[in-house]
Amino acid sequence: MTSPTPTALAPLLRAMPKAELHIHIEGSLEPELIFALARRNGVALPHAGVEALRAAYAFTDLQSFLDIYYAGASVLLQEQDFFDMAWAYFERAAADNVVHAELFFDPQTHTERGVPMATVLNGLHRACLQAQSRLGISASLILCFLRHLSEEAALQTLEQALPWRHLFIGVGLDSSERGHPPEKFARVFARCRDLGLHLVAHAGEEGPPAYIESALDVLRVERIDHGVRCTESPALVQRLAAAQVPLTVCPLSNLKLRVVPSLADHNLKALLDAGLCATVNSDDPAYFGGYINENFVQIFSALPALTRQDAYTLARNSFKASFAPPAAKQAWMQRLDEVFAAA
Ligand code: HPA
Ligand code: ZN
Repeated sequence: MTSPTPTALAPLLRAMPKAELHIHIEGSLEPELIFALARRNGVALPHAGVEALRAAYAFTDLQSFLDIYYAGASVLLQEQDFFDMAWAYFERAAADNVVHAELFFDPQTHTERGVPMATVLNGLHRACLQAQSRLGISASLILCFLRHLSEEAALQTLEQALPWRHLFIGVGLDSSERGHPPEKFARVFARCRDLGLHLVAHAGEEGPPAYIESALDVLRVERIDHGVRCTESPALVQRLAAAQVPLTVCPLSNLKLRVVPSLADHNLKALLDAGLCATVNSDDPAYFGGYINENFVQIFSALPALTRQDAYTLARNSFKASFAPPAAKQAWMQRLDEVFAAA
């Protein structure tokens, strides 16, 4: 298969200020850092080295990825490990002109191994503070519940996290989608809503459009993560457009997990043309072959129908869909306008 001609919009796609709203921080753990942390913590890994681990990144679906992703996270034990992971991400995000990031983290992946909630949250939070002070990136945390585990486990996780309620802005739902519909987590999301937390959920990645509907109707989420299968239901597309429900789309993830056979088959252009509030994000960049700018450049190269106006709309949507204060959104949109006026 020949690769498409690189888009002429690449310099602008890279330079434009943007927010990243769908990044699992554990999915930013590069093989080099996995091995460095394994050595520091005395954790044995099944792969001989960095190259052998990278060679294992040949996924056939979401579950085949998740098995390797959870194994990679097993090297995270100390607060400094969580800090180092997030800081490495922020340095890459700054290079991609990310000015605001909302980071997903999976506490159950760590608390199940005996790592205290405080260790996870303090390490990640310290990196967020340093991202603001040293890189000018505004950053916040979204706690994700693992949907392959029970709602009871999610409720317990929420209780464990509540002493640090001030360190995260919302909750999400990730991990194995099929067979774990949003409604399984109705009670815990209702409780989070009462607590004033923002609500998001993965839906319509591998799961059917009905999961997007129940995420909206039962969980009452404000954004849908992925959501690309919405186009199987024209009525749902109309609803998402009318309500301007943001979709956090992750092109390289969809390619690597075989949600689409090739990027040329991706429906991002169709989503934008239908008037949906779509955004572009990296999901698990260390595993899927690229950070946010790579996602922009590759999807624009694969879909020549995407225009300069689409690039602007996607960046603007990322600010509009964020949970940042209105004044900050306004300032970033103004910077975006300046970059486009000058380009
Ligand atoms: N989908 C579901 N769970 C995840 C993902 C994803 O793309 N990445 C990390 N956990
Ligand atoms: Zn995701």
